[in-house]
Amino acid sequence: MEVSNNARGSFRNKMTGRISNAFAKGQTMFFRFFADTFFAKRYGHRAVVLETIAGVPGMVAGMWIHLKSLRKARTGYGPQIRELLAEAENERMHLMFFIKIAKPNVFERLLILTAQIIFWHYYLVLYVFFPKTAHRMIHYFEEEAVRSYTSYLEMIESGDIDNIPAPEMAISYYNLDSDARLSDMIVKVREDEKHHAEVNHRMSL
Ligand SMILES: [Fe+2]
Ligand SMILES: [Fe+2]
Repeated sequence: MEVSNNARGSFRNKMTGRISNAFAKGQTMFFRFFADTFFAKRYGHRAVVLETIAGVPGMVAGMWIHLKSLRKARTGYGPQIRELLAEAENERMHLMFFIKIAKPNVFERLLILTAQIIFWHYYLVLYVFFPKTAHRMIHYFEEEAVRSYTSYLEMIESGDIDNIPAPEMAISYYNLDSDARLSDMIVKVREDEKHHAEVNHRMSL
């Protein structure tokens, strides 16, 4: 009897994991489709708008776990809260770098505002009820970000996009050489996104 209960439990866990994974992947494909349709190869603008969204999940999750720690009056949440808030801060810095490269037009500003209102609420609800699925989705988002920045780099290498000097802010943030170029900055940003992908994968387990 116990064995069959265990088997049923593990089957249920497996199914839940699969549904969660399919949902996270589906959402990622949905957002990717939007980004591809809207921005195509305008990578500077794409980075600006997507980084405004990328700064949301870490803040929502960090805030939620902070509140949970307060409610339960329990310690042990500190490292996770700090890690999530650091992710949000890092994404905000990415935005500050790319805003020097591409200025959003009026329509993009409207899109940023709308996306922030919708995505903040959407992610909060998802995080409250399905935190692991939420982290899994961000893991896939971050993997897409790595792909996008790789394509951006390829366009710079092929000469389709000018390899202009990196913004001062990025040079001091990443401790780059004073003559660093846009491509050097993107390599660093891409490393950050890889790190976010790993962190969110760990938190989704
Ligand atoms: Fe980012
Ligand atoms: Fe990221």
